[in-house]
Amino acid sequence: MGEGVLSPAAPADSPLYADAGLERRGGSLHFGGAALTAIADAVGTPAYLYNAGVIRRQFRALDQALAPVPHRVAYAVKANANLAVLRILRDLGAGADIVSGGELARALAAGFEPERIVFSGVGKTDEELTAAVEAGIGHVHLESTAELAALGRIVARVGRPVRVGIRVNPDVTADTHPYIATGQGGIKFGVPVDQVVPLALAVREHSLLTLDTIAMHIGSQLLDPRPYAEGIRRLLELVTRLCEAGVGTIRSLDVGGGIGIRYRDEHPMSPAALASTILPLVQGSGLTLVLEPGRYLVGNAGVLLTTVLSRKHSGGKDLVIVDAGMNDLVRPSHYMAYHEMVEVERGGRPEAEVDIVGPVCETGDFLARDRTLPGLDRGERIAVLGAGAYGFVMASNYNTRPRPAEVVVDQGRWWVSRPRERLDQLFHTERVSP
Ligand code: LLP
Repeated sequence: MGEGVLSPAAPADSPLYADAGLERRGGSLHFGGAALTAIADAVGTPAYLYNAGVIRRQFRALDQALAPVPHRVAYAVKANANLAVLRILRDLGAGADIVSGGELARALAAGFEPERIVFSGVGKTDEELTAAVEAGIGHVHLESTAELAALGRIVARVGRPVRVGIRVNPDVTADTHPYIATGQGGIKFGVPVDQVVPLALAVREHSLLTLDTIAMHIGSQLLDPRPYAEGIRRLLELVTRLCEAGVGTIRSLDVGGGIGIRYRDEHPMSPAALASTILPLVQGSGLTLVLEPGRYLVGNAGVLLTTVLSRKHSGGKDLVIVDAGMNDLVRPSHYMAYHEMVEVERGGRPEAEVDIVGPVCETGDFLARDRTLPGLDRGERIAVLGAGAYGFVMASNYNTRPRPAEVVVDQGRWWVSRPRERLDQLFHTERVSP
């Protein structure tokens, strides 16, 4: 993350192109083998596009790197909950990591076997827990004693056994944006280490619950594997203490998500580097390693297509106003996140230093600041890279703007998975009087 330094528009040999499956053919940007201009002409903008081939490449690289140990990869649905994306990952053999009743419904609709679904999430309602138990999902990760009591009541009523995990807060500080660092003390996530043994003993009071997993998630967009190793050591110490306390049912170690990607010029850990750091710790423990990656699987696989509406020069700044705003992609304005901007058709125009801003009525509505980009005029398109994770899922209808279309591109062919919202869909359930 981080903004403010000048960046030239990504050159064609930028690793970002290979990451996303982008290439220029005769000046025209292609994504997953399909021409972006043709898709924008047909579907309109703003539109999210997902490259199925990149998702498959990412999953296979991770799965292969983890092959030396028994493992499961549970895709974090929150990163991109589009049903077609979910189906691609299910077909690859991924499980699903969910955090709400809504994500449960989506995972089931996409065809994930309930057994392969893990319910994480810092606060779960009775309705959500009941839906999960009734669906027969594989694991529920507990966050508190109150949640254990609620789950205990629900499993007794439904009469169905459930494997549970405890999400531990391992008190590990990871180097990332403070909004997405989740492994240190004093924040809402996980059970503090000193409270894990009492909670584990309390699980045994419920005959239908088995404590099967010790879990953590230390943060997102992590570039270095070392915090994982630190967290895993703490989790393994806990497993030993639990055994000593008579809890011998732990079968899995869930190390969460968080694997970072390249948005600009970062050098994220490769699956091989992650594996060589963490597998020696897990090998020999007899435990199944579980990962919950979101961004790593889908982040680089997505682009957001947007069209230039106008240009302004004001207060010494050149502003390019585009048809995608903070309601479509909130990451730049919310985290000051950097997303690479690339012109879709190479026009050979001189470059200028510009801010790319949206049409929403907020000064904080920007997609990029201080970028060096070719002079683009109304009607020309820009591809916003790295938009596959936490893009559409964080979109809103602010300013009564319909959420964008979602398109899947697969080996040169493309199809609309979710049409752009229609205006009447935005308010048809509202009543103007009692
Ligand atoms: N597991 C748990 C329990 C999580 O809380 C998360 C993400 C993940 C897995 C997946 O993390 P990933 O592999 O995607 O890093 N909206 C932010 C990211 C929030 C992440 C929240 N938790 C962003 O746009 O950067």
